[in-house]
Amino acid sequence: MIPFAKPIIGDEEKEAVIRVLESGMIAEGKVSRDFEKQFSAYIGTKYATVTSNGTTALSTTLEAMDIQPGDEVITSPFTFIASANSIAMVGAIPVFVDITPHTYNIDPELIAGAITEKTRAIMPVHIFGLPADMKHISEIANSHDLLVLEDACQAHGGEIDGKKAGAFGDAATFSFYATKNLMTGEGGMITTNNEELYDKMLMVKNHGRGKQGGYSHFRIGYNNRMMDIVSAIGIEQLKRMPNAVKERRKTAQEYNDFFSKFDSIKPQEEQPGFKSAYHLYAPLLYSENLDRDEIVAALRNEGVGSRAVYALPCHKQDTYLRIQDWRWAKFVDYPDYSAVSLPVSEEVGLRHFDIPVHPSLTDEDKEHIKNAFHKILD
Ligand SMILES: Cc1ncc(COP(=O)(O)O)c(C=O)c1O
Repeated sequence: MIPFAKPIIGDEEKEAVIRVLESGMIAEGKVSRDFEKQFSAYIGTKYATVTSNGTTALSTTLEAMDIQPGDEVITSPFTFIASANSIAMVGAIPVFVDITPHTYNIDPELIAGAITEKTRAIMPVHIFGLPADMKHISEIANSHDLLVLEDACQAHGGEIDGKKAGAFGDAATFSFYATKNLMTGEGGMITTNNEELYDKMLMVKNHGRGKQGGYSHFRIGYNNRMMDIVSAIGIEQLKRMPNAVKERRKTAQEYNDFFSKFDSIKPQEEQPGFKSAYHLYAPLLYSENLDRDEIVAALRNEGVGSRAVYALPCHKQDTYLRIQDWRWAKFVDYPDYSAVSLPVSEEVGLRHFDIPVHPSLTDEDKEHIKNAFHKILD
């Protein structure tokens, strides 16, 4: 089976981990500070802080933004459930706005219609590595005085007009889960240009301690820190990023050319100026002969690691259908998510599937994948 993801772990990562282990200083410290500096330079923001994973990056940021129970945060339903869950974790209400059928990202034209007096923030998700329309979203946020938190957990290396995903909003979050473009097993990062917000994040992620550390505490916080062992892997992975993203984009272009011959396969579309980091390559299937689950099964049968990751968009997940079971429901009026209809995300949910696009694919792997499509679709 050609795997859908394959982390690159070289001697550099192994040696970096050993150096930290031998230093005896393995919790969050100097190596993490170096990783943050290098990562913020890569993204193009003033500040960055490491977190234990992408989910805690999101919840830490929402808390630092002072999002309160009952506040509404607008986001995409077509995402990994952590985007929505992080909003629910702080007691806020995820308000799902539908996506565009070409980008699978939140449709900016629909955002204004979802804004109420309880709306505090917009959380666009750069899905599969393709940045959402940040110019349009920032304009809406500015005109309604809303905060913007980019969920860039899949989009390390994505760009709009040469500016990196993660450099547009009031803050952005990244995940370094094992399958991500930059991976440390588990891990996360928040980027921001806002010093006040940054200072609050540092406290939220570290039991309300001030920058000076020690045992004076100034607000309720958590332990959402990252170990230096993990940051050491991150620094080595960051060095691989420019080349890895180039390779992903090259493979995606090859696939786009290949699928232009098939009427039944429509790739996710980059608008002019947008560059996906291709965390996933996930086209839509429009076939009269087989459905999406059948193509996934057929591809797997041919040894191609294929999946349909968001067959159920967030509003269709039991978590939200049974939101009354969540502890905040005693205090917060949640909408009836079973009455929410978001036809584009539901349709993309039914039609998308992903195929391997990671930089470890060989030319033979790619030929094998293309041949599998000929076998299945011709
Ligand atoms: C869009 C999105 N948001 C948030 C997360 C959460 O990140 P993590 O798994 O590191 O907690 C992920 C990770 O899978 C993700 O893909």
